[in-house]
Amino acid sequence: MRRRYELDLELVGIATARAAWLSSDGQSVPSLLAQLHRRRAFHELDSVRPGWDSARTIAAVEADVLVEATPTNFQDGEPAASLLRLALARGWSAAAASKGALVQHYAELRDLARDSGGHLRFGAATAAALPTVDLARYCLAGASITRVEGILNGTTNFILTMMADHGVSFAAALQQAQARGIAESDPTLDIDGWDTAGKLVLIANAVWDAGLRLDQVSVRGIRQVTAAEIRHAAGYRRVLKLIGSLWWEGDQLRASVELRSLSAEHPLAHVNGAEKGTVFFTDTMDRVAVLGGVSDPVGAAAALLRDVIHLAKEA
Ligand SMILES: NC(=O)c1ccc[n+]([C@@H]2O[C@H](COP(=O)([O-])OP(=O)(O)OC[C@H]3O[C@@H](n4cnc5c(N)ncnc54)[C@H](OP(=O)(O)O)[C@@H]3O)[C@@H](O)[C@H]2O)c1
Repeated sequence: MRRRYELDLELVGIATARAAWLSSDGQSVPSLLAQLHRRRAFHELDSVRPGWDSARTIAAVEADVLVEATPTNFQDGEPAASLLRLALARGWSAAAASKGALVQHYAELRDLARDSGGHLRFGAATAAALPTVDLARYCLAGASITRVEGILNGTTNFILTMMADHGVSFAAALQQAQARGIAESDPTLDIDGWDTAGKLVLIANAVWDAGLRLDQVSVRGIRQVTAAEIRHAAGYRRVLKLIGSLWWEGDQLRASVELRSLSAEHPLAHVNGAEKGTVFFTDTMDRVAVLGGVSDPVGAAAALLRDVIHLAKEA
């Protein structure tokens, strides 16, 4: 970080729901990692404070950035909402990986960051390794984005690709995705389209400040898709993909998640397996597509690091 970015980054604490490690306690990060690599649970490690949690840790340490990676909760955004409020109110910046708090409280958290002198980034929550909001904000600056189409969920794209390539049923493809660690043990949010819908809400509110809510997205997942439907589409040289779309009708923003039949001309027709993709349609830059960014924890962690680097440079 020092050599490549002229940044001095120091990890000062790690906290979960039931334990915390603080650098001030003396145990180095390499020694902590060595223990974790021996597959010991974080809350059982030497020099970890049992009974501490994230809120207590944020209140106790001096830091500049919170890296938030708690479970996504679309109902009330907790625990991320409270943790982000705590950190931002202390004047920290934040890089968030979970979607719930941002889906429910984006404007409030953005304003809190601005008023307290921090910044809020959430690339890991909006398709992780695949750039979406950053691309729209930086690379398309000056152009008007009129429409966004994306394959924003790697699990559902993996399932559809398995069904198309191997002729297997939805249930068998889902089982494969779970066996390979791509789908979570409860894949509901992914296969019913809500993960994609949440990402659309984040993109819409970050790009247009649109105030879009999750209940305004028309959502249909892939649970009902059959191998026969996929074969039928292939007969017409088309592929079925779960597409999240945002588009303007006059001054009304529309949002949908649905299976769409794409011809080979569509950039997203070529996104396979656990990869993702987004196409931005603009007034002056035509269409701009970004493809890849496979869904996995390393990509998510890399997206958090990317945000931390940008936050440190903005500080
Ligand atoms: N994994 C991916 O590929 C990926 C990609 C993009 C985005 N994300 C998002 O990143 C987030 C984390 O994903 P993950 O796979 O790392 O989840 P995970 O394995 O379930 O880990 C969640 C962590 O949050 C902690 N936690 C739970 N409740 C908490 C609370 N009330 N206060 C403080 N900490 C709490 C847990 O602590 P304990 O260990 O003590 O239980 C655990 O360490 C999710 O929102 C996910 O949607 C993940």
